[in-house]
Amino acid sequence: MLEDQRPGTVYWIDHYVVGSDDLDRWADFQIKVLGTRPHGGGPEGRRGFILFQDITPCCHHGAMHSPDPLPRGAGLGNGLPRYGLFIRQQDIEQHLRRLDQHGVPHLDPVRTSTEGDTGISIAWQDPDGNQFEFWAPDQLPDGAMAGCTSLGVGRISHGVFESRNLQRTAEHFARFCTLEPMTSPDLPANILVLPLVGGARIIFKQVETFGQRTGGWGKLHAAHAALVVRDEDFWPSYDRMWAEVPEWEYGRERGAFVGAGPDLPARTARHGSPAGVQWFDLRGRGDDWYDWDTNCFHFVGGEPRGGSLVEYEPHTMDWHFPRYLEAQGAAAPQSQRP
Ligand SMILES: [Fe+2]
Repeated sequence: MLEDQRPGTVYWIDHYVVGSDDLDRWADFQIKVLGTRPHGGGPEGRRGFILFQDITPCCHHGAMHSPDPLPRGAGLGNGLPRYGLFIRQQDIEQHLRRLDQHGVPHLDPVRTSTEGDTGISIAWQDPDGNQFEFWAPDQLPDGAMAGCTSLGVGRISHGVFESRNLQRTAEHFARFCTLEPMTSPDLPANILVLPLVGGARIIFKQVETFGQRTGGWGKLHAAHAALVVRDEDFWPSYDRMWAEVPEWEYGRERGAFVGAGPDLPARTARHGSPAGVQWFDLRGRGDDWYDWDTNCFHFVGGEPRGGSLVEYEPHTMDWHFPRYLEAQGAAAPQSQRP
């Protein structure tokens, strides 16, 4: 990977969280179909609100229990968001066999270049109807299979999200993530591809209606994707955003955000992690952020391993916040101090 000099640009998608109606079922499925490891190595996470599982040492994913039955979505191969995971082309048959063995609804492998990269795609869905894809590109980027699971599933290759206005989305991600759209004659007009430095992609599809499986609808607060920036860009990226976008009002009495849905503007929002709550109490700003179309993200700092961000140590707000306080000579807010 060439070092990218653009301040604040994004290197990888570190993790994602989807909604689930049954966390135990979801976890069993992930273990069997992806070969993931339950976070923490034991079943205790299953009782929690969110279950994280490691895909590779620097990629993980999770699910949050949906308070209401999940929206149906547009179905296999069509619903969004959709997350892709790298696989090797020589392993395609073995992945297909495993999907069939576990009765996973999937499409046939298809060779495509319509989403900004050339390779073979296998679309499938989990028991909650969340959309996924095994992605076997003609050229795997460095690090794509770093620490892949015992079943040969690698890092997150891409996330595909809904947008009503691709130009507005492109401007938002250029401004706050230093990402530039791919230009290619192969790209359909209704698709926006934002290549990340590491070789993954953030993709938007023009839509008229929403599948409503994103955080901005006010129910699946934890449904999001985390974007890796250099550690030194973590605070500047947030500072730029906090200076220019509003905060989603958080009603403390009800423990819920005020309003929801696609009529709200792009915004930041109180992040429910311990450090996110502390930061919100200190500064009144959140480190979750929403685009114009209900998609939720947050930044993760990356510390290079071996000299580049091909592999990295992920540093969330929980890592950055105490260092920020130390640098400021400040203490954590009294009300939230552990
Ligand atoms: Fe996250």
